[in-house]
Amino acid sequence: MQLAGKAALISGAGGGICRAIAVAFAEAGAAVACCDLNPEAAAETARLVTAAGGRALSQVCDVASEAATRDVANAAHDAFGRLDILVHGAAPHDPSGTVLETTLADWQRVLDINLTGAFLLSRAVLPHMIAAEGGSIIFIASQLGRVGSAGRAAYCLCRGEPGDRPQTRARPPRPAFGDRPRRRLSGERGCELCHRQRSPD
Ligand SMILES: NC(=O)c1ccc[n+]([C@@H]2O[C@H](COP(=O)([O-])OP(=O)(O)OC[C@H]3O[C@@H](n4cnc5c(N)ncnc54)[C@H](O)[C@@H]3O)[C@@H](O)[C@H]2O)c1
Repeated sequence: MQLAGKAALISGAGGGICRAIAVAFAEAGAAVACCDLNPEAAAETARLVTAAGGRALSQVCDVASEAATRDVANAAHDAFGRLDILVHGAAPHDPSGTVLETTLADWQRVLDINLTGAFLLSRAVLPHMIAAEGGSIIFIASQLGRVGSAGRAAYCLCRGEPGDRPQTRARPPRPAFGDRPRRRLSGERGCELCHRQRSPD
């Protein structure tokens, strides 16, 4: 992976998978804006990005907030002078439960972060990507979006691959924006990222 000169915004960067992605991006040469609801976790990822040789920005943001997503995208663009990549990996610890056990507030919060967060972050970064005539937006999916999981209806609804919804993929924001073939990262790759993040070396 070659990302020299590129700049990325990663939501949920304080968590396991996105922290590993942030460090991998930094090792590949990218500057990384590390966005998370948890300030300490975002700051720690930014520290690891810097240690890996990348420029880093630590940002506290609730991805369910329109104003906050706009602010972090603009701040990242201001800091790095560009914004080439968005990775949306923020996710709440969703409570498991049957339909009868799940409250509307819990259901709504999962959708607000996982689904609406993807929309808001995309809307926040797209003006910069369109102006630069390029960019990549990555939503992290889960096999649970395909196979389902008892008691996790809200999560499974949000975690199908966007590519499973042809109407979404078929319409890039501008005619000049192509839709690149999906890279399906297998469970092995995901585990490898987690393993690298946990590994002392
Ligand atoms: N762990 C897995 O096995 C697995 C499998 C497939 C897909 N995924 C997806 O990968 C992503 C990362 O998973 P993980 O296991 O590393 O998660 P994690 O729980 O370690 O990290 C999630 C991060 O999101 C942050 N967050 C929560 N609410 C937020 C909000 N409103 N705004 C901004 N940040 C917020 C949390 O503080 C946390 O740091 C998630 O989207 C998850 O659905 C995970």
